[in-house]
Amino acid sequence: MSGPALRQLAAHRSIHEAAHGQVKDMTASLRLLYEKGREEEGRKAEKVILEHWSDHIIAHADSEEEGLYLDVRKERPELSDTITQLKRDHDLLRKIAGAIEENLEADGSADERLVMYESLLVVNWHHSRDEEKYLLGES
Ligand SMILES: [Fe+2]
Ligand SMILES: [Fe+2]
Repeated sequence: MSGPALRQLAAHRSIHEAAHGQVKDMTASLRLLYEKGREEEGRKAEKVILEHWSDHIIAHADSEEEGLYLDVRKERPELSDTITQLKRDHDLLRKIAGAIEENLEADGSADERLVMYESLLVVNWHHSRDEEKYLLGES
């Protein structure tokens, strides 16, 4: 998920949509597990969800910062502030995912983690739309 695909709106958007749809569905399933009191399965599911965030969405963010964002900053210096804002979104995703991991390891509250999973989804949804709009020409 790097190189030329990230520079094309349709290809890049489909990467966003596929990854987002998966974590959204996984979060809905996780909520059901906890609603039914299936704690042990819930904790196992969370490890899979966190891995998914890391391997698909945060890895995608890392590769943008190492490639696409550097190129855009060079080619369109007027977008420098926008790039800074988009990188802040990536940082929020990393921070929230890290906070969930810590909470899980410390045997914290599943309700608190569910709120944080929803926050990840909200940040990621707006981030993806802004990236498509400002960097890839979606109006
Ligand atoms: Fe991004
Ligand atoms: Fe992206």
